[in-house]
Amino acid sequence: MVNIKREIAGILQAHIGELGVDGIEAMIEIPQDPSMGDYAFPCFRLAKMLRKAPAAIAAELAEAIAGDELYVSVEAVNAYVNMRVDPGYVARTVLTAVCEEGVGFGRSDIGAGRPVIVEFSSPNIAKPFHIGHIRTTVIGNSINKIFDFLGYRTIRINHLGDYGTQFGKMIVAYRRWGNRADVEAAPINTLLGYYVKFHEEAEKDPKLDDEAREAFVKLEQGAAEETELWQWFRDESLREFERVYEMLDIEFDSYAGESFYSDKMQAVLEEMEEKGLLQDSRGARIVDLEPYGMPPALITKSDGSTLYITRDIAAAIYRKKTYDFYKNIYVVGAQQDLHFQQWIKILDLMGYEWSDSCIHVNFGTVSLEEGTLSTRRGRVVFLEDVLNRAIEQTRQVIRDKNVNTDDIEETAKIVGIGAVIFQELSSGRIKDYTFSWDKVLNFDGETGPYVQYTHARAASVLRNGEFTIPVPGSIDGMDLSHIAGDSAFALLKEIYGFPEAVLAAGDKYEPSVVTRHIVNIAQAFNKFYHDEHILVDDAKEREAKLLLTYAAKQTIANGLGLLGIKAPEKM
Ligand code: ARG
Repeated sequence: MVNIKREIAGILQAHIGELGVDGIEAMIEIPQDPSMGDYAFPCFRLAKMLRKAPAAIAAELAEAIAGDELYVSVEAVNAYVNMRVDPGYVARTVLTAVCEEGVGFGRSDIGAGRPVIVEFSSPNIAKPFHIGHIRTTVIGNSINKIFDFLGYRTIRINHLGDYGTQFGKMIVAYRRWGNRADVEAAPINTLLGYYVKFHEEAEKDPKLDDEAREAFVKLEQGAAEETELWQWFRDESLREFERVYEMLDIEFDSYAGESFYSDKMQAVLEEMEEKGLLQDSRGARIVDLEPYGMPPALITKSDGSTLYITRDIAAAIYRKKTYDFYKNIYVVGAQQDLHFQQWIKILDLMGYEWSDSCIHVNFGTVSLEEGTLSTRRGRVVFLEDVLNRAIEQTRQVIRDKNVNTDDIEETAKIVGIGAVIFQELSSGRIKDYTFSWDKVLNFDGETGPYVQYTHARAASVLRNGEFTIPVPGSIDGMDLSHIAGDSAFALLKEIYGFPEAVLAAGDKYEPSVVTRHIVNIAQAFNKFYHDEHILVDDAKEREAKLLLTYAAKQTIANGLGLLGIKAPEKM
């Protein structure tokens, strides 16, 4: 992996015995004002360790490292060592890496094949797969790809909400008002209708709630009729979900959802009992979490039925046994923060020291411009409809703008869906945000279409220049002074910052770090494209500029790939 900061840290380390390379690397800064240099090293911390004035240390260090071939200039300014690196050297290193690594540029092996579970999407069966699910689905898919890229072995789990008292309600509603043909024609819409009706009727007749509870207990006990209905609801729902996953190009390794744990619950309950964690509370069993500042966790109801949290505890234990995970990541909204804190604490109390490798990656809510959504009231926006509308509107834009494409349908799909994903992954995940059609499909803002368009533009330059990837060694013989100008060098720096951005995204479980980085690359490329003429007559100059164009294009494509977005060759 190219990492100029690390190289600089290595050079500095030879003169600073007190600090290790990692420590130095973390201290190196990129000055806001480029006239100060490309990198700066502050000497305040060393001053304390060496009991010397920081400026004196900076001056000594600057003198000691100035001769290295990496630099064109090194200057001590007050407490800082300001370094300007040799664009030729940087260009050679980075371009060689991109040519050698191609689609793998930015990859790392820090994961060393360790198993990482990424649980994401996990919608509830027989309920709409609505716009609210888009975040977990898209963020989770990207985190999975990022961890793969960092050398982990990821396991993608869809923890379907396919169990719980709501199925009792659904079963009762179907028996009372249901009709097989309607369900088969439009499963989720119909089942949703039953669910809404159940709540309306239950308000008038509370007996319905008892009936529903009874039906769920029967389901838990494996009664044939209830199980058959439940299985049918599940199959029909999954068919609809899979349609959306196909549009988003998402696959799972496992659909082991809540129901999968129904026969694993008893053992877990016994274990908790043995470990003295369960207390009686009017017939129900709870774990007291007061010493940890949390409300008690309800583990079984007074009728003996288990809950969402019980299944999460069972699932984590099962996953540890089955996958021996290094990390077990849950991409679930911040509304469930307390739920995750509770059950992860319970695992800890059970004595599982791996409880701290269960990680809740939370995120804020998405609302539509029309207002937020509620399943119960039946005012829902289906994710599938949002994606279809994005494709439709993109098709229109393609026609209006005369976009260059051989296949309008395919391009509309890649760009429309890419735009929705890109907006999801644009800001830090914890921020709430409002979904906006105007922003999503803007070709000029910091959007998916903008980045995809930049990729296609670079692809077109490469086609026109009849570019082929040089064999790595041959880059040493090229004249890279042609890409040492300001905008070319700024682009190069963004490209070599990519591997580090991927690492940071993994560290923070934050795909938006990648999103922002490829926006920077796209902007830097467009500036280079406007400032410089790429397809010049001079063969040496053209060769160098095409190589830089290729590196920009490949890096954008790799970044988009990590977000789960395709990179079109034409647009
Ligand atoms: N099905 C749940 C919902 O839609 C999300 C499941 C989250 N995962 C978990 N292991 N609890 O709210």
